Amino acid sequence: MSSPRHLLTLADLTGDEFRRIITRAIELKALQREGTAHARYPGKVLAMVFAKASTRTRVSFEVGMRQLGGSALFLSAADTQLGRGEPIEDTARVLSSMVDLVMIRTHEHASVERFAEASSVPVINGLTDDFHPCQLLADMQTWFEHRGDIRGRRVVWLGDGNNMCHSYINAARLLDFELVVACPSGYEPDAALVEANSDRVTIISNPEEAVRDADLLVTDVWASMGQEEEHRARSVAMAPYQLNRPLLEKAAPGALYMHCLPAHRDEEISTELMASADTVIWDEAENRLHAQKALIEFLLG
Ligand code: CP
Ligand code: NVA
Repeated sequence: MSSPRHLLTLADLTGDEFRRIITRAIELKALQREGTAHARYPGKVLAMVFAKASTRTRVSFEVGMRQLGGSALFLSAADTQLGRGEPIEDTARVLSSMVDLVMIRTHEHASVERFAEASSVPVINGLTDDFHPCQLLADMQTWFEHRGDIRGRRVVWLGDGNNMCHSYINAARLLDFELVVACPSGYEPDAALVEANSDRVTIISNPEEAVRDADLLVTDVWASMGQEEEHRARSVAMAPYQLNRPLLEKAAPGALYMHCLPAHRDEEISTELMASADTVIWDEAENRLHAQKALIEFLLG
């Protein structure tokens, strides 16, 4: 049997496949809105393994599977035998003998790679310390809905060079946009990933210079899950990179801004931008549902 397709990082997709998933996500959103049934996968089961907290990822996958006619199982890693040291390969082999698809949110990226290696069904990365590909499906769907194709546009990442930033780097290569990372020294994204994408990605430490002519500004929490004790030091270093109205006004006219949520108001993003009537952040959050349904269709075939 050939090995299944996985989504461990966006690099598991081609640019064409990424665009097809976005197009289908937009269609699925319309079907859902108009009340047209699209339950293509009766009886299919998604197992969701969470070693970190989640609101959007859990609910969007669970609701998405139901709308597609299947169901989802929530498994807290700590409450499974994984939490007591059962090898991840054994867990993968057993789970994948019973379910049709697995989503994992965990710490080390190598854990999802090991899981996928031993899995006979598709595995989706629901966030690791290094990547968050599902969020990028939703972010890019949101951009395409509001502005059309993103090819050739200028996107600026503000703040921490984290898992979301890494997935933006992958998206820049696949969808052919320019990414500027505005971050303080010591918080840059992975050097090898930046180097491998040096034709698309630049690092500019001055946020005002970075956002000049930008079409999209994106930020995320300054301390990711697992970095809570670094919160104070990170807040000091990243304060100049707050996404706020004065910074947005230095970007291109009509620039959009995004945040994957959860947001810390008046830290990485101002209260005023979170409250703005025309923000697309709530579309971005909702699009997790539609984009992941398109991903599930893509993986299940
Ligand atoms: N953006 C995101 O992944 O949200 P959750 O942590 O709530 O799943
Ligand atoms: N960078 C954040 C994203 C949360 C959705 C984290 O890893 O905690």
